Amino acid sequence: MLSVFENNSAMRWLGKQLFNREDPAAFFDPILSIINPMMVRGLTPARVEAITHAARDTKTFHLKPSPRWSGFRAGQHININVEIDGVRCHRTFSLSSAPAQWEQDGTITLTIKRLPGGKVTNWLHDRLETGTVVGISEAFGEFDIPNVEQPLLYLAGGSGVTPVLSHLVTLADQDYRAPVTVLYYVRTQADEIGAETLRALQARWPALTLVIHRTDEDGPSALMNEAHLEQVPGIKARHCFLCGPPGLMDLAQDLLGRFGIREEQISATFFTAPTPVEVSEPLGGEVRFAGSDVTVESEGDAPLLEIAEAAKLNPKHGCRMGICHQCSCRKTSGTVVNRLTGKASGPGEETIQLCISVPQGDVEVDV
Ligand code: FES
Repeated sequence: MLSVFENNSAMRWLGKQLFNREDPAAFFDPILSIINPMMVRGLTPARVEAITHAARDTKTFHLKPSPRWSGFRAGQHININVEIDGVRCHRTFSLSSAPAQWEQDGTITLTIKRLPGGKVTNWLHDRLETGTVVGISEAFGEFDIPNVEQPLLYLAGGSGVTPVLSHLVTLADQDYRAPVTVLYYVRTQADEIGAETLRALQARWPALTLVIHRTDEDGPSALMNEAHLEQVPGIKARHCFLCGPPGLMDLAQDLLGRFGIREEQISATFFTAPTPVEVSEPLGGEVRFAGSDVTVESEGDAPLLEIAEAAKLNPKHGCRMGICHQCSCRKTSGTVVNRLTGKASGPGEETIQLCISVPQGDVEVDV
C-alpha cells in the first residue's frame, strides 16, 4: 500500500495543512478526537468524573482536565465546548470549586442551572454522562479576590453564587481575618446552591456572616432592599462583589451607590450579556476581513463576530458577551462602536473585541 509519506502530492497537501494554517489544531483535532479525545490541542479535554445534584434544576459537573490545562484563579470562568446534533456549541460558566482543589487532585467543578429553553444547559443536564470528554478553554475573567486583606461584601443571586463559592473556600483556607458578609438571594430553600458548603464554611470560619434570603418563602421583606445593607457593619469600607441575574445586579449597584460606595469598590460579573446601549449615529458599513480576503456589507447593530460568521468565517471566540477577550483582534482601519458602552473607537489601528464591536462605516479587521 502506498504510504501518504511516499506520495509527493499528499506530502505537499499535508505540509500545507501543517505549516500554512494559523491554527493547526483546527486540522488535527477532529482526527485526535477519534484516536484519543484527551490529545485534542485546540481546547483542553476534560473528562467528566462525576455529576451530582446541587439544587433544584442545578447539577455540579466534576471535571478532570488534561494536565496541560493552566489552572485558574478563584472567580474565573471557562468556556465549555460540546457537540450537540453535529454543531459545536460554546458556553461560559464560572468555576464553583477553589483553585486549591485543582492543585491537590486535578479536578474542577462547574455548577450549572438548567435554563428554560437553554440548548446547552439542557443538553448538559440530560445527555452528558460520566466518562465523557468535553473541551474546555483556559480560564479567564477578573472577578478576583483583592490582594490586600479588607472587609468584603458579597451580593449573590441564584446560580450567581458559583464564583462566590470558589472565593469563599479560598478565603477560608487562607484564614482570611477581615469580615466577610454574604447576602444570598434565592427563591426557595430548594434553590440554594452550595448550601452545605456555605454552612460548613460558616461553622469553621469566624470571619464569615452568611444571610440567605428566600424571596418566595419569606415574603416581600426578603427582596433585596436598603435595610439588608444597613445591617452590614462598616459597609462603606467594604469591597463589594456582585454576581447574579441582571435585575439583581442593577438593584445592587443602585443600593450600593446610595450608601456612598464608589465604583472602584465594586466587582461585578454577569451571567447574561448586559443590555446593549442605544447609539444615535447610524451603524453598519463595508467590512473587510483582510486575513481571509472577504468583504461584506453590514447593516444595523450586528457585531463583527456575527458578520464574520454570516460570511462563513469562524473567528476564535468564547463568551460572545465581552468578557473572555478570546475574540480580540486587530482593527486596521475604520470606526467601531462598543455595544456595551455605546462608545465609538478611534479610526486607526487598535485591538477590538469582535463580539461587541459594531461597525460604524467601513471597517477593516485582521481576521
Ligand atoms: S467572545 Fe468573549 S469577549 Fe468576545
